[in-house]
Amino acid sequence: MADTAFAPRVFSGIKPSGGLTLGNYLGAIKRWVEMQEDPTYETIYCVVDMHAVTVWQDPADLRRATREVAASMIASGIDPERSILFNQARVPAHTELGWLFSCVARVGWMNRMTQFKDKAGKNAEKVSLGLYAYPALMAADILLYHATHVPVGEDQKQHVELTRDIAAKFNHDYGVDFFPITEPVTEGPAMRVMNLRDGSKKMSKSGESDMERINMLDDADTIAKKFKKAKTDPEPLSSDLAGLAGRPEARNLVDIYAGLADISAEAVMAEYGGSGWGVFKPALADLAVAKLAPVSDEMRRLLDAPEELDAIMARGAERADEIAQPILARTYDIMGFVR
Ligand code: TRP
Repeated sequence: MADTAFAPRVFSGIKPSGGLTLGNYLGAIKRWVEMQEDPTYETIYCVVDMHAVTVWQDPADLRRATREVAASMIASGIDPERSILFNQARVPAHTELGWLFSCVARVGWMNRMTQFKDKAGKNAEKVSLGLYAYPALMAADILLYHATHVPVGEDQKQHVELTRDIAAKFNHDYGVDFFPITEPVTEGPAMRVMNLRDGSKKMSKSGESDMERINMLDDADTIAKKFKKAKTDPEPLSSDLAGLAGRPEARNLVDIYAGLADISAEAVMAEYGGSGWGVFKPALADLAVAKLAPVSDEMRRLLDAPEELDAIMARGAERADEIAQPILARTYDIMGFVR
């Protein structure tokens, strides 16, 4: 399939469920900014509120989190002039195409989604229908813009593969070459930030203890306290990276330092190898505070002016809709709808 015929366009999204963490910053937004700076791509970034409500969201929390995610993107360097930045609910074409794709995707494909199985667990009868259909909506998010590249974490790769399957089936069933076969982008500067209390779990905005994550809006004292209390083992840092094998908590702190300082983990070890935690943790806390303070200051400024923020998202939604409408109209037409 001639995916090269499609102009390089990036789409990605973050759910507004809870506040943003250092994990979102180092794991996603940093790379989004980098792709925005690369003239090869047109970049579209979305606060995916429609995905958030697949599990219960208190209305006030959803409203606040939607603005907070948008503010953190802007504060971290997403420029709403150069990128298109908006929230999903403002562009109803997402849900329209999502429905059409739920008629393309097969139940057997959905049943293989590991994230659904993990999230539903033993409760599969009680979760929302939306949670099950979520990957079809995600495919719509991406293909509504004919996006060719989707920066995501490893945990979302299977959903991008499903997006490719939906595009291929649609193209095949209707005998067209209409939707691109999108590439997941998982390499590059982004990293997987782990939970500060359990190095085998991802740092998550919805995990039960606040001590396990650094929130973008944490103040300096809180950041210092969380790193101080972060779980480690009694051993000091090894002299080199290889010595951190099998020590996930220690490795995570080194990786966080590297991500914040924009240097390699090897370079961190060259400086701190052999140090005790009493030396390394305060250095890490200082670095985190120095890097995050300007971002959280700007976030607070934006959150104090929600009208400005909402206007930015409304403008982004208009630009998104301009791209989406012709693609949606053509999809309806290909499928034979009379409109
Ligand atoms: N499912 C993604 C997550 O949980 C969020 C998301 C929704 C997304 N739509 C998307 C990511 C489209 C990339 C592209 O992280």
